[in-house]
Amino acid sequence: MDDPKAVRFRGAEPRDVPRLVALIGELFALETAFIVDPARQEKGLRALLASPNAHILAAEANNQVVGMCTVQLTVSTSEGGPSGLIEDVVVDRAWRGKGIGRALLDRAEAWARSQGASRVQLLADQHNTPALDFYAGRGWTLTPMVCLNKKLAR
Ligand SMILES: CC(C)(COP(=O)(O)OP(=O)(O)OC[C@H]1O[C@@H](n2cnc3c(N)ncnc32)[C@H](O)[C@@H]1OP(=O)(O)O)[C@@H](O)C(=O)NCCC(=O)NCCS
Repeated sequence: MDDPKAVRFRGAEPRDVPRLVALIGELFALETAFIVDPARQEKGLRALLASPNAHILAAEANNQVVGMCTVQLTVSTSEGGPSGLIEDVVVDRAWRGKGIGRALLDRAEAWARSQGASRVQLLADQHNTPALDFYAGRGWTLTPMVCLNKKLAR
């Protein structure tokens, strides 16, 4: 049943949103910087689906989405053009270690390249050693930059 060859990769569609929200919930449970809030996650996913500058990749097996990642474009003055921001990289626990994460990342990078991006970037929890090892194995390197953010009052 869990033959990796049976996994299909495709762009996500609106009908996938409930399952994508559940996968992001699994991810945010690991990442202390983020809060599990299904309504917000759904809103964010729908905004990404509607954006021409974003793409959501889904891995599907047995008619269920078992992995995802999102990628969106920013303009980098350092690069002199588009850069791809990869987020929401997560594979269902039962499907990990079968090459799905690697395939999702490869496809996210390929999409960013196809949009003219010359770099991809992402944020990872500094304590998420398995994920950091996973990225290191895919050619990602740490930069000297750290991430700061500030909530804006509405
Ligand atoms: C990180 C994650 C997306 C990897 O997906 P996956 O489908 O399990 O990974 P793959 O099977 O494609 O593995 C790809 C490579 O990474 C390596 N790898 C995967 N998980 C690893 C781990 N926990 N520790 C070290 N290496 C790992 C694999 O050995 C493989 O190496 P190879 O290319 O030399 O064969 C997945 O484990 C996951 O969903 N983790 C929880 C969510 C998370 O932490 N996401 C990252 C947020 S920044």
